[in-house]
Amino acid sequence: MNLLLVGDIVGRPGRELVRRGLRAVIDAHEVDLVIANAENAAAGFGVTKDIGDSLLEAGIDVMTSGNHIWDKKEALDYIKAEPRLLRPANFPAGVPGRGSYVAQTGDGRAVGVINAMGRVFMQPLDDPFAVVLREIESIRHRSRVIIVDFHAEATSEKIAMGWHLDGRATAIIGTHTHVQTADERILPKGTAYLTDVGMTGPHDSIIGMEVEPSLARFLTGMPAKFEPATGNARLNAVLVEADERTGRATRVARIGYSERELEELVNRASTKGTPLRA
Ligand SMILES: [Fe+2]
Ligand SMILES: [Fe+2]
Repeated sequence: MNLLLVGDIVGRPGRELVRRGLRAVIDAHEVDLVIANAENAAAGFGVTKDIGDSLLEAGIDVMTSGNHIWDKKEALDYIKAEPRLLRPANFPAGVPGRGSYVAQTGDGRAVGVINAMGRVFMQPLDDPFAVVLREIESIRHRSRVIIVDFHAEATSEKIAMGWHLDGRATAIIGTHTHVQTADERILPKGTAYLTDVGMTGPHDSIIGMEVEPSLARFLTGMPAKFEPATGNARLNAVLVEADERTGRATRVARIGYSERELEELVNRASTKGTPLRA
């Protein structure tokens, strides 16, 4: 089966790419299930019910998140009611929401999704290495295919998680840095790995935010208000082909589409199968 993991959707530019182009990407790559990181979907900070529902409507099956999950207060209620929205599994016990979900493809095949967050240069949550193993144990009987979104800053911690889970999960895909890395591979025991899948949002930006205020903060050390940028929207994602009998990955490929490339894909899809007129 083919799984697609879409990198952090940032603000309206990111949501628009998903709304207009995701179906065409799904068709073009024969995708069976879509996971997307939604932590920056609401103007760069968090996610709301309206926005989450619209992403599910656009073809996303499971939403993961990370350090921005609580930025919008209403996410607290939304995550309690919507099992397809995950927060990192290694938040302390008692925190609302869940860190894993077993989804079904359109034809009823199970796909487990786990979300965890790193601790290096980030909030010190519970040990993600131990927590992810526990989550895998708790869903393994329901799904051999298991995808982990590891939301982390440090490349070393992400690679360590890849080796830790080699042979135990189908894929470990990194999120959070908003910059796609070129190190996709299948580890020796069959686990697909990519340090970061990148960002679905405006790329003429500083990781999604307008250049001026973000740059000013580096230049002056003073606080600034950040708004999502608008220019050069791109969809970044990764495709993982999985053998559902073994849970192993058989292929991993990064993908990226500019707005124009996505438009062309949509147009190709809509003309495909149109009968020629005399
Ligand atoms: Fe993010
Ligand atoms: Fe993040």
